[in-house]
Amino acid sequence: MKLLNFIAFLFVFKYANSSVYFDAIQPITVAQFQCAINSTVGGTTEQLKYFIGRIWTSNGKSDKTGIQNIQNFLTATNYFLVPQGYMFPCVSDGCPSASDQVKSAWNSVKASLNTSSFVLWVDVEGENIWPTNKTANQFFIQELVGQANSLGLRTNIFTSKTYWDLIVGNFKTLSTSTLLWYANYDGQPVCYRKYFLK
Ligand SMILES: *[C@@H]1O[C@H](CO)[C@@H](O)[C@H](O)[C@H]1NC(C)=O
Ligand SMILES: *[C@@H]1O[C@H](CO)[C@@H](O)[C@H](O)[C@H]1NC(C)=O
Ligand SMILES: *[C@@H]1O[C@H](CO)[C@@H](O)[C@H](O)[C@H]1NC(C)=O
Repeated sequence: MKLLNFIAFLFVFKYANSSVYFDAIQPITVAQFQCAINSTVGGTTEQLKYFIGRIWTSNGKSDKTGIQNIQNFLTATNYFLVPQGYMFPCVSDGCPSASDQVKSAWNSVKASLNTSSFVLWVDVEGENIWPTNKTANQFFIQELVGQANSLGLRTNIFTSKTYWDLIVGNFKTLSTSTLLWYANYDGQPVCYRKYFLK
């Protein structure tokens, strides 16, 4: 995610007039968020629309720094937006089930954030991280998204065409409200859900 974080920061400033998403894993204070918001054209929350903090890591633990970042973003933007966060699920042998992971992740977020609604992004990326059994990976993602939806969370998948093919193959049967997104390193973030889902 290192490269992605860097690119995503660039989006904030370069594409200040479009909807901008960015994520980060290092601590960001309320003042730093305010500074970033003030630095974008116009200086309103219209410019820095979304911050997506990491809430869960691939070692199966919640990310306290990431959750605090989301809280700081909420404070800096005066609770203007529904908070968003991403989880990198634990997918190796011995990890908790997909539904247990999303339940724990949401419990940590709920305990820390002064909010009842949340958009959950699931990071489906990485070489030699996910098991090679694509069918099992499909079940895992389906279980995770299903549990997230039944907890009342809106879900999106963050992936790339290459990673999606590698990890789950030709898998198009997620719920239609779960969008697939990727970062396009030519500078324009693009949603290509229509390509993947019916
Ligand atoms: C951001 O702008 C607001 C409103 O103009 C101002 O009150 C605040 O001090 C600024 N914060 C920073 C960190 O620049
Ligand atoms: C919780 O959020 C509300 C806005 O939804 C805000 O007015 C209130 O100050 C927040 N409480 C804390 C402890 O941050
Ligand atoms: C792959 O996973 C599926 C679903 O869990 C399982 O039915 C199948 O036996 C697995 N295939 C192999 C080769 O392990």
